[in-house]
Amino acid sequence: RKNSYSVNIDIKSEAIPLQASIDKYMGIIWKGGAIVNGVKIYGDDVIDDKNRYKMTAPYDRNIEIGSVLFCNKKQIEAATASAYEYQPTWSDKTVLERATYLNKLADLLEQNMPELIALCHKEAGKTIHDSIDEVREAVDFCRYYASQAQEIFKPGQATTGFDDITRQIKRQGKGVFVCISPWNFPLAIFLGQISAALVSGNTVLAKPAEQTSLIASRAMELILESGIPVQAIHLLPGTGVDVGSILTTDIRITGVVFTGSTETAQSINRSLAQRDCKPATLIAETGGQNAMIVDSTALPEQVVRDVLRSAFASAGQRCSALRVLFVQQDIADRVIELIKGAMQELRIGLPYLHSTDVGPVIDKKAKYKLSAHIDEMIKKNKLIAQLPLDDSCEFGDFVPPTAIEISNLSQLKNEQFGPILHVIRYKAGKIDDVVAQINNTGFGLTMGIHSRNEAVYSEIEKCSRVGNCYINRDQVGAVVGVQPFGGQGLSGTGPKAGGPHYLIHFSKQVFVNPSS
Ligand code: NAD
Ligand code: ALA
Repeated sequence: RKNSYSVNIDIKSEAIPLQASIDKYMGIIWKGGAIVNGVKIYGDDVIDDKNRYKMTAPYDRNIEIGSVLFCNKKQIEAATASAYEYQPTWSDKTVLERATYLNKLADLLEQNMPELIALCHKEAGKTIHDSIDEVREAVDFCRYYASQAQEIFKPGQATTGFDDITRQIKRQGKGVFVCISPWNFPLAIFLGQISAALVSGNTVLAKPAEQTSLIASRAMELILESGIPVQAIHLLPGTGVDVGSILTTDIRITGVVFTGSTETAQSINRSLAQRDCKPATLIAETGGQNAMIVDSTALPEQVVRDVLRSAFASAGQRCSALRVLFVQQDIADRVIELIKGAMQELRIGLPYLHSTDVGPVIDKKAKYKLSAHIDEMIKKNKLIAQLPLDDSCEFGDFVPPTAIEISNLSQLKNEQFGPILHVIRYKAGKIDDVVAQINNTGFGLTMGIHSRNEAVYSEIEKCSRVGNCYINRDQVGAVVGVQPFGGQGLSGTGPKAGGPHYLIHFSKQVFVNPSS
């Protein structure tokens, strides 16, 4: 089995054999909604509920793909009460039992890959590469955390004294975790959060991104099929304001694991702090203003390949994606010219076609925000390249991959979550200034370095305040269990998803000292 996120998925060996099975699902109308105590509340009998939302495809808004019924306060209360009451029972189960459920879930994800790929195309607008990666990464998270948990939670870790008493330090779940996930990894991050919380002995209230509620509903059906007790996990789809904020102010919850924007993480942090009870754990993975520094010793062709993948893969909708390329003046003209040429080879269009490199962005709001940024930047700066959109993009939310040369980093106030690359030239001998500027943004997620001078890249790596630093390669697509992922500063609380220390943050320690 290949790990998730291989840089170059071999379309022939991976996607083509699956294609007929994927096609079978492309015309389906899905339904989704809350799942509380194992009961699906998709409201099949309700036609005009104000909480029912019609879902359409990001690549063509005329294509209806299904509907989702957002949850109400009564369902949130029922789910919270059930998760709270059941948590001690769940935590008392052996770690092997909990891990076995996750491995079963991983098997089910693999068995249902064609349908999940079709859903990723249709609801999230993901390309064939990204959809395969998405399912693989979800599988990897389940299997990796199942295996890690059996190390971290293994019973009988004794402490010794001057007597024969066997004292123990045990790890247990903390309580009820709220898992709040984003739309850009609707399966991988959704299930990554859930599997980490569950296997550590917590019960879960899962709040998926509203844009990808159908994928979450289908994944939740598979969770239940794996046999995980129905009281251990509940699905509560809805908006952040309506559902997320109720969950994060409830005194019965002990932790929140959140992936999304920095602003939302800050708002959740404030909600948790205002609760009149003991503090809750907040695990937050947020945005970035990710840079790559290229010095004059770098190999331009390799730089261009890695820049294109880092900036435009997944239509730039990865938190790890490259936003600002700093190129040393001496090779800047050549690198910029090569980027311009290579961009002409990118294909933007319908995400389910094997020839497509860049699909749509998630929704109209994102399209307008990104387009406004491009317009503003082009007015004041030099456009390097922008791909034209063809007729296939007419009814979808597409943003053309765009590269712009800007004069300095202070021109960028916020993270632009889409296929936009900013390029800045710097003078020889000024790398320290560049690193200082990047550090001063306060974000610290990914950093790319291209240099063949070991002293240079080691110094940049040492001085950069980022969570993940990638040298002479692209900077997206962290592999579970191989490249633990997560940022610092405004980019997150930093426990490193997919790494060996992640589960510890979901657990507490209990010390037991029997009498002699
Ligand atoms: P977002 O913050 O708008 O939404 C994320 C989730 O939070 C959604 O489920 C949303 O409904 C919920 N939410 C919104 N307001 C809330 C509130 N007040 N209380 C509780 N929940 C609330 O982010 P987004 O636009 O969906 O996702 C894109 C962002 O996610 C980007 O900034 C990206 O960099 C970041 N991201 C980070 C990582 C990482 O690992 N660091 C991974 C993926 C995405
Ligand atoms: N973990 C994801 C990546 O590395 C976001 O691209």
